[in-house]
Amino acid sequence: MEKNTLWSGGRLSAALNQSMADLNRSLDIDKRMADQDIRGSQAWAKATCAAGILTEEEYQMIHTGLEQVRQEIADGSFVYQETDEDIHTAVERRLTEIIGPVGGKLHTGRSRNDQVVTDFRMWMMDTIPELEAQLRELQQSFIERAKKDIDVYVSGYTHFQQAQPILLSHWWMSHFWALDRDRQRLSEAAQHADSLPLGCGALAGTAYAVDRFDIAETLGFSIPAPNSLDAVSDRDFACDFLYWAAMLGMHLSRCAEAMILYSTMEFGYITLSDAFSTGSSLMPQKKNPDSLELIRGKAGMQSGHLFSLLSSLKGLPSAYDKDLQEDKQLVFAAADTASLVMSVMKGVLDTLTVNKERCLAAINTQALATDLADYLVKKGMPFREAHHAVGKAVKLSETMKCDLKEIPLDKWKGISELFDEDVYKTFSIESAVDARCAWGGTARFRVLEQIRFAEKVLANS
Ligand code: ARG
Repeated sequence: MEKNTLWSGGRLSAALNQSMADLNRSLDIDKRMADQDIRGSQAWAKATCAAGILTEEEYQMIHTGLEQVRQEIADGSFVYQETDEDIHTAVERRLTEIIGPVGGKLHTGRSRNDQVVTDFRMWMMDTIPELEAQLRELQQSFIERAKKDIDVYVSGYTHFQQAQPILLSHWWMSHFWALDRDRQRLSEAAQHADSLPLGCGALAGTAYAVDRFDIAETLGFSIPAPNSLDAVSDRDFACDFLYWAAMLGMHLSRCAEAMILYSTMEFGYITLSDAFSTGSSLMPQKKNPDSLELIRGKAGMQSGHLFSLLSSLKGLPSAYDKDLQEDKQLVFAAADTASLVMSVMKGVLDTLTVNKERCLAAINTQALATDLADYLVKKGMPFREAHHAVGKAVKLSETMKCDLKEIPLDKWKGISELFDEDVYKTFSIESAVDARCAWGGTARFRVLEQIRFAEKVLANS
């Protein structure tokens, strides 16, 4: 009989059907957990040695053999075989080739169920700090933009209609804060990954007297999971990570969407660097914001990853089911995509140019209508009435086909006696911006203060 699996020759006699083997094989995905698998196995060997299952000599052989496997994988000399179902099988197969039958003792008291999810949690705990560092750098780029563009006035939009003028820096900083919440979510995902499943066996716990607290410490976990069934079935930590990635993707997509519009010929607020744009194979004039479009496009995939895992999990009964094998592909793809979009967004921000004059010129005087209402409020009119009066003025300017600031004083007075010569002073974009002076508003001094606060938050967390 052909021996092509970990279990053939025992309970099961036939070789695995080829399509079934292909479906079953997860090696191409999970081989990126090789390092975690080796560290996990070394910790397990140490624990089983301490529990008297391995002799000191056997433990040393296993430890050294695993080091050689690590070396072979690192230098590329490791040869994966057709029958290696996953990275865990491959490492153990090679270990046994190197050290002989003693290699077969490594798996005593352990199941792939606790092994796989231990490796997976370790991978996540190893990877999150790298993603966190990247997220920080991206936040820093938003800060740099905000500092650089502090003199740029631009329209703020609601419903994508001009609403009130703001500083472009205020807009950049709005994205900083969204990313800051993402950074908190990422560190929460790391906390949720921090519970050791190893030593839970297949589902019921291990029958050998290993010290799981000791294993946890060796592998850098805060605690060993307190329930063996929960430990092998729980993939909440993976969902938390995917939620982080989906949220980050959505945040960057919203920012990208606005920037795509701002970079059009019609808006012309910003110009992307050629390094982050592409041309058209047909239209010679085209310069397309593909970087931003792909950031927006990837956001859909990122939410899909979360949805896929939740859908896979919802029907699973207790403990391990093979459906769980699909978890890693989703998380790895989400991590790779998040890393790539963060890096591209950073590049876009660092290299774009802002067209200050276009930003200013596009602000319509109507965007100062709230300031006109505030003008009347300051003269004692209730806000609701003031809103109505200014609405009339806007309508009048439209019928007169003129700008609000061109309406003559007698017409203003026709709307309300409270209007006076000083109404024309209201038509200052700078004053309108500086009027939003409560904490969190777009007034220049507040934005500068906000930038300093953001820098402090970034440095202290
Ligand atoms: N490659 C599998 C996974 O990633 C290994 C677990 C197999 N466990 C089992 N009981 N068949 O989930």
